[in-house]
Amino acid sequence: MIQQLFRRKNLDQITHDAETSTDGHLKRSLGALDLISLGIGAIIGTGIFAIIGTAAAGGAGHLGAGPGVSLSFIITAVACAFSALAYAEFASLVPIAGSAYTYSYATLGELIAWIIGWDLIIEYAVGNVAVAIAWAAYFHQLFSGLGIHIPAWLAVDYRSAHQAAQAIVAAGGRIPLDLALPFEAWQTAPVLFGVRVIFNFLAAAIVAAVTWLLVIGIKESARANNVMVALKVIILLFFIGVGAFYVKPENWSPFMPNGFAGVWTGASLIFFAFIGFDAISTAAEECRNPGRDMPIGIIGSLIVATVIYVATAAVLTGIEPWYQLGVADPLAAVFARMGMNWAAGIISLGAIISMTAVLLVFQLGQPRIFFSMSRDGLLPKYFARVHPRYQTPHVTTIWTGVVVAAVAAVANINEIVELTNIGTLFAFVLVCAGVIILRYTDPDRPRVFRTPLVPWVPLLGIAMCIYLMFGLPPITWARFGIWLLVGMAVYFGYGFRRSKLRSA
Ligand code: ALA
Repeated sequence: MIQQLFRRKNLDQITHDAETSTDGHLKRSLGALDLISLGIGAIIGTGIFAIIGTAAAGGAGHLGAGPGVSLSFIITAVACAFSALAYAEFASLVPIAGSAYTYSYATLGELIAWIIGWDLIIEYAVGNVAVAIAWAAYFHQLFSGLGIHIPAWLAVDYRSAHQAAQAIVAAGGRIPLDLALPFEAWQTAPVLFGVRVIFNFLAAAIVAAVTWLLVIGIKESARANNVMVALKVIILLFFIGVGAFYVKPENWSPFMPNGFAGVWTGASLIFFAFIGFDAISTAAEECRNPGRDMPIGIIGSLIVATVIYVATAAVLTGIEPWYQLGVADPLAAVFARMGMNWAAGIISLGAIISMTAVLLVFQLGQPRIFFSMSRDGLLPKYFARVHPRYQTPHVTTIWTGVVVAAVAAVANINEIVELTNIGTLFAFVLVCAGVIILRYTDPDRPRVFRTPLVPWVPLLGIAMCIYLMFGLPPITWARFGIWLLVGMAVYFGYGFRRSKLRSA
């Protein structure tokens, strides 16, 4: 039984399959700069445009980091850097394009691969629920700024609206800024059979649109990515450049209004802003000189993102008192509240484009992971179908789209971000541990990239990820525990018996 659980895919077989695949070979064309750009494309999105608000102001059971949210970004960046180096080695061990699921199947065995694959659903699909919700908030803001009114009850979830109504009653009718939109939804929603109709139609709609694009087969080109990356960076530099004129230094003190605990829980939340750098490691097969360029690409994109993030955080918390920033679209809201609707509009547009790009990347990645799991027999064959005309994994793409859209229509963004973070942090812990284990169990296998100072760097990665996991509330741990239990049930109920390797 134990042996079965740790059965491994044959590495030579995987490499052979990749080489003889009719899809052709991947060209080794990427240099360090391309990798940095790839990383920034996947990293910058919802975290900096939306979640920064909750991290700074607190709420939803979190202490606010206050202006100290800049420090939260730095702590998280360090945790990510350690894990990223481990990721790069793990990816280069199995020199084919793929995800942590594929690498671990070949090196750590089926059970760990399943856990990582199951966990990646949290990173990709659940993460995208949060991105879609934030997208909807920015979209609503942009159209309001243009004078086009989209009903609030189509842009928030029912529970947030209900909670806002209760909070406002408890506060004697005073409407805090962060509750204005959900409260408006509560007040204006049509009532059907005694129930207020409130659901995040906008979030579901963007997921549906992205899904449709992916089914008919959108080609992601390096050039499109570069344009998107340039745009993201320019919009954030615009925020920093223009916002700097409106900074009131007194807003920066106290720097840590809730002490270090606020900075720590802020870091656990803001971790979301860095998710995506692991995508760089999947390009190991396409690098000209992976041993040198992989660490430059990973660390380089983390440094660029961190510098931009810290500067953005400093400006944002300088413009308004930290406790007012807990809205879904803080970067645009601070300008809108100063009457600068043109600036708010530019930022909202940039945010929408950035988040659409993130949605595309993750919504593209998730079905391909399901696809691999299905091809390996761990999920039903049905999921490995390819569309006869579009040549895309349409079944998994549509299922992912339907589920993400449905959840995005009703979910609360903070809860979803917390779940995404705990799941992704756990995947990083497994990858870091995997690198150490494999140095002992398989020391001679060629590694295109070697993590420096093993076991120390991966151990620091593990320690910091666990530290950030502990910054998340108990309810998030409980949800994550249930998720893993469901995963185990699916594995033992299906994959364990149906795995292709079992019959091999
Ligand atoms: N890091 C990505 C974002 O913030 C997931 O949108």
